[in-house]
Amino acid sequence: MIARPLVTKIKLELRDKSHALIKHGVVPSLKVFLIGNHLPSITYTQNKKKFMDEIGAKCEILHLAEDVKAENLIALITKQAKDSSVHGLFVQLPVPKHLQDIDLKSLIPAEKDVDGFHPKNLINVMSNLNMSETLVACTPKGVMGLLEHYNISLSGKFVVIIGRSMIVGKPLFHLMTNADATVVLCHSKTNNLRDLTRKADIIVCALGKAKFLDESYLGETRPVIIDVGINYDANKKLVGDVDFESIKSKVSAITPVPGGIGPMTIASLAQNLIQAATHLKGIL
Ligand code: GUN
Repeated sequence: MIARPLVTKIKLELRDKSHALIKHGVVPSLKVFLIGNHLPSITYTQNKKKFMDEIGAKCEILHLAEDVKAENLIALITKQAKDSSVHGLFVQLPVPKHLQDIDLKSLIPAEKDVDGFHPKNLINVMSNLNMSETLVACTPKGVMGLLEHYNISLSGKFVVIIGRSMIVGKPLFHLMTNADATVVLCHSKTNNLRDLTRKADIIVCALGKAKFLDESYLGETRPVIIDVGINYDANKKLVGDVDFESIKSKVSAITPVPGGIGPMTIASLAQNLIQAATHLKGIL
């Protein structure tokens, strides 16, 4: 299940929407806070900016030093959040330890929360309410979009998600439950994980361990595999959480790394930005 055909379609749709906003005098604008020199984060934020440029949106990466003081970061975020010409902003994660307790939800309003992490957005996702006004976390949104594109229905399916993060596992649990799947959210302390994965129709790997899922986790169900992992091996090669070669003959479909969920996450971020800009201006 490669992302490119869907990403190309989304890009064209967003370019049209962005141009329509610009005609109304609104240039969709995203501010990205990048802290320190975490190499994968530098690459991701550059990829995000490239996508925004391609759809005609503005994207500025505010690159701050690793040792930036919490009060300085808070002041900068607050300034951008209050600026009516800024429609979306987020802090690229992970952040250095001394900044991990900053309460982003009190700084970034729900309407500009293109990451979908604000409690208001999360509660809407949990309760399946007001979804057209909700900014949904980008990776889970991308997973749902890709499944839909490949006509993989969730209704009645048994899904095993491995990884309980607020960025992926938890929001995805709710989105898939709302789509009538039976979902089990697993993690590093789950006992007998193989007993669950061997029965699954769909397995989502989002635990951040290179090549974790091998054929020993699969039974006879020929599951769909969603690989959310972005890891670098000893040769600095990008690898997922799934051992692709080991399992490829035992699955019905699989998302590759690279070229699967990664590009979908970026496309979803751009969808959220255009949604936020459209909603904030009350036009179109
Ligand atoms: N780091 C890895 N994924 C994400 C994401 O979706 N949002 C942010 N802000 N940081 C990330």
